[in-house]
Amino acid sequence: VTAEIEFNNASFTYPEGESPVFNGLNLELPRGVVTFIGQNGTGKSTALLMAAGIARPESGDVKIKGISTSQLRDETERHRYVSFIYQNMEFETEDPIGDVLEFVYQSGHHDKKSRDFLKDITRQFELEQVLSRKTQDVSKGELQRTILAFTLLYGSQILIMDEPVFALEQKQKEAMMSYLAEYVRSHDMSLYFSAHELELSRSCADFALLFYRDKAPLLGPVAMIFEDEVLEEAYGIPVSYLKRKESLYRNMLSG
Ligand SMILES: Nc1ncnc2c1ncn2[C@@H]1O[C@H](COP(=O)(O)OP(=O)(O)O)[C@@H](O)[C@H]1O
Ligand SMILES: [Mg+2]
Repeated sequence: VTAEIEFNNASFTYPEGESPVFNGLNLELPRGVVTFIGQNGTGKSTALLMAAGIARPESGDVKIKGISTSQLRDETERHRYVSFIYQNMEFETEDPIGDVLEFVYQSGHHDKKSRDFLKDITRQFELEQVLSRKTQDVSKGELQRTILAFTLLYGSQILIMDEPVFALEQKQKEAMMSYLAEYVRSHDMSLYFSAHELELSRSCADFALLFYRDKAPLLGPVAMIFEDEVLEEAYGIPVSYLKRKESLYRNMLSG
């Protein structure tokens, strides 16, 4: 397995943080679809930001496709490798979404550009109805689907997303994430994401990176990480509770 992103003895502390979130973390993220899971506050978002070269380690190094993130000159160079979707991402523009989608596609890294691809992505992310509207005039879910579409239209090789579908309906979450995962696999790209629901994470990913409160995260194939005993140790509660919590949460959201 080829490492797309490598953490070498990387440490990170927030400016206002009392203790380091990571202390000498070593990690090789493989190509493919990797879900970041674990309890709240265990470092998933921080690790995603570091993997994208947005949060820089205070010591050690993070390499994206062999290039140290400290060597990336600017945002444009970073975007060539990585697109990042922030948790709760917002953005406002004066232009209608259809124009912004077109702009993102034209300024991106696809070798050949075709109207068909733009149309296809618009359809896959169910954006036909919002093309003439501005980002500030659409629902949270529509905005999330727009942002997901941007990442495929722009054409970075590595997509990193922090809870990118939390505002979508359950069916849409599954549809969008499985479309993304299939796209990424068939184009030899990588997708690293976190999602609130374990079942969604498991069904889309090839690998999981499980975060703990008191030790370094564990990487493995989903079949291994989603073993009951492994999850129970990391979450500190029986898996039956974990599943019940998830279905309660789903029912709460859908009803
Ligand atoms: N901006 C910040 N300033 C200080 N501490 C932070 C900040 N963001 C996160 N943390 C702390 O860093 C740790 C890891 O947080 P985070 O990466 O957000 O975890 P997760 O995404 O798994 O919930 C937590 O202890 C959290 O409180
Ligand atoms: Mg988080």
